[in-house]
Amino acid sequence: MTAPMPPVISLQGIAKDFPGGDGPVHVLHDIHLEIGRGEFVAIMGPSGSGKSTLMNILGGLDAASAGSYRLAGQAVEGLPVNALADLRNRALGFVFQGFNLLPRSSLLDNVALPLIYAGVPLHERRQRATELLQRVGLGNRLQALPGQISGGQQQRVAIARALINRPALILADEPTGNLDTRTSLDIMSLFEELNREQGITLVLVTHEADIASHASRLVRLVDGRKVWDGPVAEGLAQAGLAFGTARMPT
Ligand SMILES: Nc1ncnc2c1ncn2[C@@H]1O[C@H](COP(=O)(O)OP(=O)(O)OP(=O)(O)O)[C@@H](O)[C@H]1O
Ligand SMILES: [Mg+2]
Repeated sequence: MTAPMPPVISLQGIAKDFPGGDGPVHVLHDIHLEIGRGEFVAIMGPSGSGKSTLMNILGGLDAASAGSYRLAGQAVEGLPVNALADLRNRALGFVFQGFNLLPRSSLLDNVALPLIYAGVPLHERRQRATELLQRVGLGNRLQALPGQISGGQQQRVAIARALINRPALILADEPTGNLDTRTSLDIMSLFEELNREQGITLVLVTHEADIASHASRLVRLVDGRKVWDGPVAEGLAQAGLAFGTARMPT
């Protein structure tokens, strides 16, 4: 018998406060969340509801003020900085709100960058980055700079970079923000394919009901509290958000 796999993400009673002029600002309250392997979870909520703050905690980029977080079964708080960086590098791909590409580096070097930290030799770095850029439809622009391609293409580069370490978990904060409908659909198909064919766990922040409808589970935050965690269609309906019936799960 094999031991049961721990959830990819397990949050217990997570809170986050930021210091403010009039005392601490409470941004997240008592968040409990378990996400299993292969799930595709959409996170929605009004601007300022704490979505990016939560994603930063999930990505190990910021620490919670209270509560506990286990990533792939390992307690994150109290991990030495190096061990956290290593866990992040091995387990996680992060697509930021805004793309965070290095403006003076080629697309190839941007995508290959995380492999430097992982100690992968140059030849293999180039080969893997090339394959991924081909996968996202940019195989003919390897040496372009980020400023020479469109916003949608930059977003695909950011996704390729998030995939380069073959992570078990991808965290994407508004990956289709500011993109036109066509490009958004392309990006969502890529995510769906990764989720379905490679079993990659996906957690994706979006403010668009149509994008959330690609997920298998919806988490909604309002004022830093989880107000919905369950099926997408019902959660959208509860929030009064309409979306195309063509994508309505059956
Ligand atoms: N470093 C910080 N210091 C102080 N307050 C912060 C900090 N980061 C975020 N906040 C506050 O926390 C709240 C939640 O911010 P967050 O960025 O998580 O919202 P969001 O749900 O991602 O919003 P959006 O949809 O606009 O991206 C906001 O009120 C914001 O001002
Ligand atoms: Mg945000």
